[in-house]
Amino acid sequence: MADARPFHWEYVPEPVTREIFRVEGGQPLHGTVPISGAKNAALKMLAAATLTGERCRFTNVPEIEDVRVMTETLRDLGVVVDHPEPNVYEIASGDVEWLFVPLEAAAKMRASFMLLGPLLARFGRVIISNPGGDRIGRRPVDLHVQAMRTLGAQIDYRNGYYFATAPGRLRGTEIRFPVVSVMGTENAMLAATLADGHTIIRPAAREPEIDDLIVFLQKMGAGVERTYPDTIEIEGRKRLRGAEHRVMPDRIETGTFIVAAAVTGGRLTLEGAAGEHLGGFLDVMRDAGVGVECGSDRIEVDSTAVGPGQFTPCAVETAPYPGLATDLQPPTCVLLSQAAGRSTVHEAIFEDRLEWLGELRRMGAEIELLDDHHAAITGPARLRGTEVEIGDLRAGASLILAALAAHGATTIHGAHHVHRGYEDIERKFLDVGARIERVDEAEPADRP
Ligand code: EPZ
Repeated sequence: MADARPFHWEYVPEPVTREIFRVEGGQPLHGTVPISGAKNAALKMLAAATLTGERCRFTNVPEIEDVRVMTETLRDLGVVVDHPEPNVYEIASGDVEWLFVPLEAAAKMRASFMLLGPLLARFGRVIISNPGGDRIGRRPVDLHVQAMRTLGAQIDYRNGYYFATAPGRLRGTEIRFPVVSVMGTENAMLAATLADGHTIIRPAAREPEIDDLIVFLQKMGAGVERTYPDTIEIEGRKRLRGAEHRVMPDRIETGTFIVAAAVTGGRLTLEGAAGEHLGGFLDVMRDAGVGVECGSDRIEVDSTAVGPGQFTPCAVETAPYPGLATDLQPPTCVLLSQAAGRSTVHEAIFEDRLEWLGELRRMGAEIELLDDHHAAITGPARLRGTEVEIGDLRAGASLILAALAAHGATTIHGAHHVHRGYEDIERKFLDVGARIERVDEAEPADRP
């Protein structure tokens, strides 16, 4: 059976009620922001919990739409998901009866594909839909599928679904990726924890969320270890046990609020944030002149001395960790619109991820889109409120940042994209002095 062609579009269903953000800009943000647990760690841990029939308990899970979709998907499989209090989830996968991940789940969220590795390794079969996710490029899953085949799985692709079986158990082996892939590494790693024998993955992605997942897997009894910065080795076990884990802080949310303080000329304390996870983003902030101090469990950002209009222009390029995260490219672009001079941006990971700059330009930023991967931003721009449309999660949060820095009122359509990945974002902004509200699009469009 032929493999799937890479998707050139991704279907993200519109919610029944469309919501908008209304933001009145020009207010410096001051105060403390609690940083939530990391979306891209929590989603993988929820999937990893299906590697055992015993109960797993997670704390500091962000209350976001993607977590809701993942837990609904697990429930549909027959997994027991308890949510005893906010940010706490308990997963018991003793009676998984339905090894089928439908399009309805997969179309909403690419991370649903993280169920391939664990279900295949534990139950020997799964039927899983080709995933959706953010509209930020082609985003194929060929590397995941190839990794499972290398571990001995048989996988056919028919009518939008991967039919995967593992006759007997998966077999430990060497998995060599042609490019670094975050979820490819994670899927292979999860599958290998229950394979027969030893697996080596390289180059393994180095994102901190993967190391948090490794810590959780070790608590489950898995024989998994990062042996070199780009190598993960796994000694397969017959079974894993239940475990408890606190999800690491979200470094992308952290970066978003660093830029929020910077572009509004404010001062924020980011409580629970981990500066050591920010990699190249922190270097860019410091090169640009943003005042960032990292403590043991907090970050202080002070933009009252060097503020909007005074930042130093930079040449930035996204890269796998520890480089500048592609998820922090959109907030970085908002910051660069407030630098005094010409900056250049190279988006090296995804081919559609600069498209959102069209919306930033509508707000008054001076931007040249040189090609799919390169742009030039000349600042400082006097951003002004207008109507803009969110196309994906990180671009959405960045349009809020631009609106906070802008003069006048901005209406931002497509608020649902932001709720996929940011817990209570408007409450967090309101608490530090922003003028923002989320309203039903159907309401009369009074500007704040
Ligand atoms: C993860 O996506 C994150 N998602 C993304 O965050 C993040 O932008 C991305 O890593 C890069 O850091 C989650 O963790 C849920 P990749 P992932 O595989 O794993 C190509 C957000 O906003 N590739 O590292 O899907 C791919 O096209 C989201 O929170 C293949 O060619 O990204 C890209 O060019 C959006 N074949 C490159 O590899 C494959 O099978 C790296 O992508 C897989 C990937």
